[in-house]
Amino acid sequence: MTERTSIILDVDTGTDDALAIAFATRHPAIDLIAVTTVAGNIDVEKATANTLAVLDWLGAGEIPVHRGASRPLVRPHRDATYFHDEHGLGGARLPASERELGADRGPAAIIRLARQRPGEIVLVNTGPLTNLAIALNVEPRLIEWLRAVVLMGGAFHVPGNVTPTAEFNIYVDPEAAEQVFSAPFPRLTAIGLDVTERVAITRADWDAVNSDADLPPSASLLREVGKFAFTRLDRDRFALHDPLAVAVAIDPSLVRNEDATVVVDTSEAEVGRTRVVGPGSVQVAVEVDADRAVETYRRTVGLPLPKPA
Ligand code: BDR
Ligand code: CA
Repeated sequence: MTERTSIILDVDTGTDDALAIAFATRHPAIDLIAVTTVAGNIDVEKATANTLAVLDWLGAGEIPVHRGASRPLVRPHRDATYFHDEHGLGGARLPASERELGADRGPAAIIRLARQRPGEIVLVNTGPLTNLAIALNVEPRLIEWLRAVVLMGGAFHVPGNVTPTAEFNIYVDPEAAEQVFSAPFPRLTAIGLDVTERVAITRADWDAVNSDADLPPSASLLREVGKFAFTRLDRDRFALHDPLAVAVAIDPSLVRNEDATVVVDTSEAEVGRTRVVGPGSVQVAVEVDADRAVETYRRTVGLPLPKPA
């Protein structure tokens, strides 16, 4: 049996966060030990309720969920309901979960687990970086205790998706991002739009899940969370931003990185912009094996093969 990597997922569920959770629960090399939530795509109450509902849907109701920060460090919260819909799950109506939340809050849970298992845990952030910034402020030894951090965020050499220069997760809490990028993590990888925009589920995948009634929950989840994007917004593709970050956490060879020092703009003119200002210790993903990443996703969650065009 492959040695499994212990992962904490920090999410703002969120459509592609839901797909990332599905991937993490199904991948044989991942031991998903906890999920923490944060205000991002949607407020933290909905993000937490969505996370619980998704885990229940996946038959993974034993994984502890810890509610995290309800707003960015210094700014009002700006959500992304324009893409994820008003409930945050892209039109999915999953049964609400009845189960209890983990006793400690997101940042406290990250600190506790990392302290208990130094050098073992990979933290994967797929929402704004508020929880990690708070945790780091309280416990700087997280830098030694976490085995690695892989975050979905940034638009380094490509345009942003909220403003011409900013990617959503960084835009929502740029002060938190600035603190995380300037902390001396020995292994911190940023999976930004430079690579995530190239890794997408297509309309052919959407058609395939809709014409197959007999799918495992990890695959039928796409039928639920893809509704808003593929029907109401009439998109032809659905980028796997957050699943790619989880995939890289266990298979770094999916991307090629540059060693970077990253600066985050916090002034209003270009708020949330992520700039590489020279070499440094942050690994910024600049190239991706997109076919292999999509294939890994399909195979792991059990998506049916799309019909050839
Ligand atoms: C990121 O923003 C969110 O809307 C997605 O869930 C993803 O984490 C992409 O910019
Ligand atoms: Ca997200």
